[in-house]
Amino acid sequence: MSTPPIISARGLSKSFRGPGGRTVEAVSDLTMDVAPGTLTAFLGPNGAGKSTSLRMLTTLLRPTGGSASVCGFDVARQPAEVRARIGYIGQKNGAGQYQRVRDELLSQGALYGLGRAETRRRVDELVEALGLGELVRRPTMKLSGGQRRRVDIALGLIPGPRLLFLDEPTTGLDPQSRAHLWEHILGLRRRYGTTLFLTTHYLDEADQFAERVMVVDRGRIIADDTASRLKSDLAGDRITLTVDAGPAAAVAAVRGAADAAGVTGTAPEADRTGEVTRVVVAVDHGERVLPALLRALERGGHTVRTAELTRPTLDDVFLRLTGRSLREEEPGVPGTGPAPEATSVGVPR
Ligand SMILES: Nc1ncnc2c1ncn2[C@@H]1O[C@H](COP(=O)(O)OP(=O)(O)O)[C@@H](O)[C@H]1O
Ligand SMILES: [Mg+2]
Repeated sequence: MSTPPIISARGLSKSFRGPGGRTVEAVSDLTMDVAPGTLTAFLGPNGAGKSTSLRMLTTLLRPTGGSASVCGFDVARQPAEVRARIGYIGQKNGAGQYQRVRDELLSQGALYGLGRAETRRRVDELVEALGLGELVRRPTMKLSGGQRRRVDIALGLIPGPRLLFLDEPTTGLDPQSRAHLWEHILGLRRRYGTTLFLTTHYLDEADQFAERVMVVDRGRIIADDTASRLKSDLAGDRITLTVDAGPAAAVAAVRGAADAAGVTGTAPEADRTGEVTRVVVAVDHGERVLPALLRALERGGHTVRTAELTRPTLDDVFLRLTGRSLREEEPGVPGTGPAPEATSVGVPR
């Protein structure tokens, strides 16, 4: 990496004393370097250790092992320096219920020790950037979930941080609000060049928006790459064919056709659905394999009723890595995790 990393962790770990005195290894041996200006997603199921990692990097939680520096400062020894340079938007928010949005934003400026004029300038700019114009006079208790998240993000950005941590910014929002919030998050990045480090358990978000995806499971990073490389390296494509034959004959036909087409490493799996058999094969470069496979089957005198090419998802990657589906582990209720968190950190006065 040519420019120094904005986040650097070496063996960062956190264990908690759980019920009955048992030790819970919430985060084990987190080691990473994050380049400035990037958007990194920490993807993992509930309880994977995402929030604990973020809370250590934002100095809210003291590591029990390893070290980390954020914006060039050590999180354990120089927490005030770190806090002065970052924004953090926690998983839950403790909003002042009756306060109007604008007043909440203005008092955040005071918290960070900005002058009144400077605070007003920042607030006006963020109100525009985040499309909060309609909302500034409303009491915060009247906001929808998506609007509340946008206000939270504005709060985190009042001090103008170079680095913003977001813990599950879109959890619990409906798809439309999620898409809308993402537009704003990406807009901020274009406008301010803010480095974004966020957690999510939504596979599609990590896939679509993050340039780097770190898959976290049981306190450990089990994969770290771009979404597209994770998918092509770990999951591959899938071809599903329905063939006019019984399962054994259909598998033999597909295996024979794959050999004839020069496709290696296929392991067809079949299940019978009425008169036909569905055969699934895992391949690389499905777009090239599929036509060759169909031609070979036709030459062998087999009738293929349907053919489908499926690209892998990050869920396939997770399944390959852990043997479990992340999709099935998505929590229905947001915020079922441990202890509520502060909405943002900063240096008061
Ligand atoms: N304050 C705490 N005390 C005890 N256990 C905790 C505490 N905070 C988190 N944990 C445990 O650490 C693990 C990781 O939690 P967390 O970081 O919140 O996961 P995630 O954010 O990925 O859902 C879980 O098993 C959780 O129960
Ligand atoms: Mg969490």
